[in-house]
Amino acid sequence: MKEQIESIRKELDELAAKDMAGAATSRELYELKMEYLGKTGKISALSKGMRDVSAEERPEMGKLVGQLRARAEELFDACEKTLKKRELSQKIASEKIDVTMPARFAETGSVHPVSLVKQELIDIFAGMGFDVFEGPEIERDYYNFQALNIPADHPARDMQDTFFITGEYLLRSQTSSGQIRVMEQKKPPIKVLSPGRVYRSDSDATHSPMFHQMEGLVVDKGITLNDLKGMLDEFARRMFTSETKTRLRPSYFPFTEPSVEVDLSCSACGGKGCRICKGTGWIEVLGAGVVNRRVLENCGIDPDEYTGFAFGMGLERIAMIKYGIGDIRLLFENDVRFLKQFKG
Ligand code: DAH
Repeated sequence: MKEQIESIRKELDELAAKDMAGAATSRELYELKMEYLGKTGKISALSKGMRDVSAEERPEMGKLVGQLRARAEELFDACEKTLKKRELSQKIASEKIDVTMPARFAETGSVHPVSLVKQELIDIFAGMGFDVFEGPEIERDYYNFQALNIPADHPARDMQDTFFITGEYLLRSQTSSGQIRVMEQKKPPIKVLSPGRVYRSDSDATHSPMFHQMEGLVVDKGITLNDLKGMLDEFARRMFTSETKTRLRPSYFPFTEPSVEVDLSCSACGGKGCRICKGTGWIEVLGAGVVNRRVLENCGIDPDEYTGFAFGMGLERIAMIKYGIGDIRLLFENDVRFLKQFKG
C-alpha cells in the first residue's frame, strides 16, 4: 500500500512539473483528473483497498491517502484555473477587431426629386395649417369631372386627354377630384392638400402619361382671391428664393370663378429674362381660382355662407424649375447617374 501511495505521489510530482500537467485541452485535463480522482481512478482504488489494511496500519495509511487526494485535487484545480484563463485570453485575442481598418462601403440611395418637392410642399403648407388627404387614382367620372362642374360632353373635357376604363371609371386626370371627396366628408373650415399621381394621354419632353400633382383647397367664411395670393407668395419664397414674386393672370377652369394662371418670377435670371423663362422673366407654375359656387353646392356647402380658393400644380414641373431639369423623361428613367445628384 505504501509503495502504491509513493508511486502515485511521484506520478503527481512529475505531472506538477509539466505545464498544465501535460494536458493540451480542457478535455485532456479532465480525463487525466478522472484517472486519479474519478470513481474508478487510482486514488479511489486506494481508498477501497483500505479494507485489506491491518487495523494498526489503517490510521496512518488513511492519513497518507487523504493527503494524496488533497494533493491531486490541488494540482488539478490549479491547472483548471490556469487553463480557463488561457482559453479566455485566446478567445479575446481571436475576436479582436482592428478599428483602424477601413469600413466596408455601403451604397445608399437618394430621395427622388419629385418626392423631395412633394415633401417640401407638404412642409410649407402644413406650416400654414393644411392637412393632407389622398384620394383614389382610379376615380369615378363624377368626382373627376361632373362634380367639378364639367358635365359629360362639355368641351372643357378636352383640356385633359383622359384614360377611361369604363364609361363610369377612369384614371384620374387631376387631383382636383380630391376636393370633392374632402368636401363631401368634411364641412368648413377646410384646409387640405391633396398630392398624388394623375394620368393623361400625353407624352413629350414636358409631358408624361403619368405625373404628380398637388392640389390645395381652402374653404371658410370670407375667403377671397387675396388669401390665395398671400399664400402663394409665401409658397414661392419658401420653395424658391426670398426674392421670388408671383403674378396672377386671368384664365379659365370650370371649377373656379374667377380662375387664374399663376406665374413665378424666374429665379434663374431674377426676372430680367433668360433662356429658361424664354426672355419673359416669368414661369407659369400652377392653376388656381376662387371655388365655383356650383362646386360648393354639389358638395352641400352653402356658397352664400362660405367661399374658398383652390390651386393645383404639377410636381414634375416644380422639380424641373427648381433643379433646372430640361426633360421630364429624366424623372422617370431612374438613371442612377441622374438620381445620384439629389443625394444629401
Ligand atoms: N386641375 C387643374 C389641371 O390639372 C389645375 C387646377 C386649376 C387645380 C385650378 C385647381 C384650380 O384646384 O383651382 O390643370
